[in-house]
Amino acid sequence: GVILVLNGPNLNLLGSREPAVYGTSTLTDIEALCAETATANGFTVRCVQSNHEGVLLDEIHAARESASGIVINAGAYSHTSVALRDALASVGLPTVEVHISNVHAREDFRHFSYLSAVSDAVIVGAGINGYRLAVEQLATIVRR
Ligand code: DQA
Repeated sequence: GVILVLNGPNLNLLGSREPAVYGTSTLTDIEALCAETATANGFTVRCVQSNHEGVLLDEIHAARESASGIVINAGAYSHTSVALRDALASVGLPTVEVHISNVHAREDFRHFSYLSAVSDAVIVGAGINGYRLAVEQLATIVRR
C-alpha cells in the first residue's frame, strides 16, 4: 500500500525557517524518514509538498484511488481551511495529522485545527519524529 505524505505551505523552507521553533531538519530529511518508516512497515510513500491549497485538495482527492492512508501537516491551512477538512472527510481514508511544533504552547490561533476532528490521530510537538510516529500509527490503523 501507499501512504500519501502531504506537507502544506512554508514547509519547503524547513531547515532555515524559524529553527528555534521547527529545528534544522529539512523537508528532504522528513521525506526520507517517512519513506524509511513506511518501508519498515511494508508500505511505500508518495510525498508531496505544496504552498497551494488547491494542489493539496487535488492530492487528497487522487488518494482515494491510489493510497491506503494520509499523513498530513497542512501548516497554517490547518487553522483556516474548511476545504481541506471537507476533502479529508469526503475521501474517508485513515488520516494522521502532524505538527512539528507544540501548537498548544504557541499563539491561540494555532490551538484549533479544522483537520483534527476528521483525523484518526493527531501528533504535535514531537519535532520531525512526529512524522515517524504518524507513519507507524497509520500503518497500524490500515492493517487492522
Ligand atoms: C505547523 C504549525 C502551524 O501552526 C504552522 O502554521 C506551520 C507548521 C507545525 O508543523 O508545527 O506552518 O503545522
